[in-house]
Amino acid sequence: MPGFRPDLQILKPYVPGRSVAEVKKLWGIDSALKMNSNENPLGASPKVAEAILKNMTQISEYPAGDAAELRVVLAEFLKLKSENLLIGNGSDEIIVMICAAYLKVGQNVLSSQPTFSEYRFGTLLAGAEYRFVPMQNFDHDDQALLNHIDNQTAIVFLCSPNNPTGLDLGAGRIKNFLEKIPSQVLVVLDQAYVEFCTQNTGQSTLALLEQYPNLLLLRTFSKAFGLAGLRVGYAIGHPQVINDLSRVKQPFNVGVLAQISAVAALSDKEHLQETLSLVQTGRDYLAKECAELGYRVLPSDANFIAVHIGPKAKSMVDALEKSGVIIRWLNSFEMPEWVRISVGTFEQNQKLIQLIKNTRSSL
Ligand SMILES: Cc1ncc(COP(=O)(O)O)c(C=O)c1O
Repeated sequence: MPGFRPDLQILKPYVPGRSVAEVKKLWGIDSALKMNSNENPLGASPKVAEAILKNMTQISEYPAGDAAELRVVLAEFLKLKSENLLIGNGSDEIIVMICAAYLKVGQNVLSSQPTFSEYRFGTLLAGAEYRFVPMQNFDHDDQALLNHIDNQTAIVFLCSPNNPTGLDLGAGRIKNFLEKIPSQVLVVLDQAYVEFCTQNTGQSTLALLEQYPNLLLLRTFSKAFGLAGLRVGYAIGHPQVINDLSRVKQPFNVGVLAQISAVAALSDKEHLQETLSLVQTGRDYLAKECAELGYRVLPSDANFIAVHIGPKAKSMVDALEKSGVIIRWLNSFEMPEWVRISVGTFEQNQKLIQLIKNTRSSL
């Protein structure tokens, strides 16, 4: 057999939240509601479907390797320049590109725990060392993170709002952090959920880019824009960092319909607004209902909430699945007593709460 890299033996294939098809098969049920992968409950804007149908014939040609048109439209949307933007096959791909571009064997990467698993994945792929600082009461421990930076630290990944806890650091804390971090360390702020923040964190962190060229923001079309299946994410940063990343980019990394769809999604501000207000209202509703049932709920600025169920968390997830609602058990984040609930439509949220009420006494 071919010899797999010994230093990667510790990697396991990523286990995503269960799909509707898997759950239907597993429990022998006819339908299931997906509230486990932080997708958009409204789906994508209708303008996306129109654009895909209109441009179907383009699929026989390679896409624009530099996603030039999407970058121009996105730059306009964000009020910055297209040289500040790099488009990836989801922000997942950009995490791997960052690690390929900036890490050497012997260097290390720092992040908090629990957080999104791809920072560790990218680091290990690049042959570097992944270090993490445990969160304090489910919040980033800023001082401990700073204390752990040494002269081999090349990248710090901060996820905000953090997956799976939901807390947003806010621009003030990020700025404080950047002030104290050596300028040769790349600070990657993963903002996959930033559109859902109640404060204006999206805008105020963009404003930090001018002052801190070592700051790179990661965002995605998978969540607020409802394009998870098409795989479009982006990095926002200093033109030199963007240029470095484009040197390790696959030539045609984002499909032609994915690029066209992202442009169409940006043109539908009403759909975005509808999504944001649905998520903010639904998040408050779910948090209030879960708290009233006596569960601890972490404050969230994302499109999900983390809820402490206790030792019966897995039984609760299974019971809900059998009744046709899929939520995420946080075992893989080393939070086995917790679940993560993605905010759904008003009716979906109500159905979930009713099911929790029905099942909790029989667990
Ligand atoms: C924090 C975080 N970053 C990045 C991603 C990946 O997003 P994308 O679909 O753009 O690859 C996710 C997806 O769940 C996420 O939770």
